Amino acid sequence: MAQKRILVGGAGGFIGGHLAKHLKAQGHWVRGADIKQHEFTDLGLDDFVLGDLSREEIVKQALDGIDEVYQLAADMGGAGYIFTGEHDAAVMHNSASVNLAVLENGVKMGVKRFFYSSSACIYPERNQLDPDNPMCSEDSAYPAAPDSEYGWEKLFSERLYAAYSRNFGVPVRVARFHNIFGPQGTWTGGREKAPAAVCRKVAEAQDGGEIEIWGDGKQTRSFLYVDECVEGICKVMESPDFAGPVNVGSEEMVTINQLAEKVIAISGKKLTIKHIPGPLGVRGRNSDNRLILEKLGWQPTQPLQTGLEKTFAWVSEQVEKAKTASK
Ligand code: NAD
Ligand code: GDD
Repeated sequence: MAQKRILVGGAGGFIGGHLAKHLKAQGHWVRGADIKQHEFTDLGLDDFVLGDLSREEIVKQALDGIDEVYQLAADMGGAGYIFTGEHDAAVMHNSASVNLAVLENGVKMGVKRFFYSSSACIYPERNQLDPDNPMCSEDSAYPAAPDSEYGWEKLFSERLYAAYSRNFGVPVRVARFHNIFGPQGTWTGGREKAPAAVCRKVAEAQDGGEIEIWGDGKQTRSFLYVDECVEGICKVMESPDFAGPVNVGSEEMVTINQLAEKVIAISGKKLTIKHIPGPLGVRGRNSDNRLILEKLGWQPTQPLQTGLEKTFAWVSEQVEKAKTASK
């Protein structure tokens, strides 16, 4: 395998951190870039640019001498961050500014291939009202009607990458991630997604107590373990002719109540679920893997249970560390 010079935008974050480490382990020269260092691990990369990728001097430094860009930097979070409406302007401005700067400068500086991380949040709300039968096939994206500004920015940026590819002839690969979880992801602070939030609540609860879940818990989702997400990203990026956008997600759909029950069982505690009002997002969502299977002969296989066991163990450690630190 020929060694490439790779930039991972958002390497200080959850998926970007796992991806950058994987690419480094594959033998590539890897530079990360992010507005923050990784909170949970030493990435051990060849280089790291600490700064805002929407700023010209930073993005030029990050892109210098780079063959391939994996662009994962974004202003993002779970339902508690993207569905409250409070962060809409920041989400749209920050994420779009990064994508504009990375593409415009990357093309001028000779980048040979881009990967862009889009989201299941681009799919129309109208197809995700029935929790038992959500539709998220790639060709259902239009007429567009995402239920969040985060989803609209992702759709805009998908189109931006496609436009640069058409007009400048640079290959672009796009994946739509469906709720990725695992160790070293945000687990507290307001941006955490349901798997980490539920793991934290269960880890913090006293045996015999209760945990709070937003809504009636009957809303559905599928969750993809981060190692399989990294595998999917590499399959999409390496594809010789299939550009996407394509779903990278699990088809093992569960209700949020089922997710909580699984985590409670892993913990060995006896806990009850209390339903409280909260930001909900779409009523049902599941990955549709027909296209990725047809085009790339790949789809994830790991059961949710396996990833949840690893994630619960990691989140429990963080909860313990935080308790010790506050004493
Ligand atoms: P994350 O928040 O852990 O990582 C994103 C990183 O981008 C953060 O470390 C953040 O500091 C960085 N960043 C934000 N603005 C920046 C800027 N201006 N300059 C430089 N860095 C900046 O999120 P993640 O879960 O690792 O997500 C990675 C990508 O995948 C994002 O684009 C996200 O929208 C997309 N995605 C994630 C999920 C998921 O379930 N995690 C689902 C769909 C799509
Ligand atoms: N975060 C969180 N925390 N969600 C909870 C909680 C809680 O304590 N309790 C119940 N939920 C419910 C939410 O109300 C929502 O209905 C469901 O669990 C899933 O929430 P999240 O995991 O936070 O987000 P999401 O699936 O709606 O959207 C996420 O996935 C997209 C891709 O599939 C987000 O991370 C998006 O940014 C991402 O693009």
